[in-house]
Amino acid sequence: MAILNILNYPDPRLYTVAKPVKEVNKAIQRLVDDMAETMYQAPGIGLAATQVDVHLQIIVIDVSEDKNRLQVFINPTVKASIGSREFEEGCLSVPGIYEQVTRAEKIIVEALDRDGNVFVIEAEGILSVCIQHEIDHLLGKVFVQYLSPLKQSRIKNKMQKRVRGR
Ligand code: NI
Repeated sequence: MAILNILNYPDPRLYTVAKPVKEVNKAIQRLVDDMAETMYQAPGIGLAATQVDVHLQIIVIDVSEDKNRLQVFINPTVKASIGSREFEEGCLSVPGIYEQVTRAEKIIVEALDRDGNVFVIEAEGILSVCIQHEIDHLLGKVFVQYLSPLKQSRIKNKMQKRVRGR
């Protein structure tokens, strides 16, 4: 396995729209495993392929306390969204920034697992937020884009300063 490089906002590659995975083969499973290792090492609770500059519809998530419940979503689609709720979000591509975002409270998602089998999951709480956040990445969207233009430019400046300071 390998640790992959995570793109940082406002890298324009984060705005790429991911394509569906045609076949869950060994190469895709290797990518899934590398993404999981990258997420755990960061550490984070979710990672979309977009963030490692691979523009395929793949997400890995682990919201468990002991970090032993990996969930893989390949070609995820939201079948239903129920209610709305505000939640504080962060992102491995926007380190150090945490902001409130309003999203659906509960969602029903259909996807393929690491073996290419279809499953449907009803998610609420942090898992629901995380899935919606990661699906946004696949659509080329970063969570800060929900914030006011003023906040967005402040965050951009902060991120660019951080890069120059390295
Ligand atoms: Ni993110």
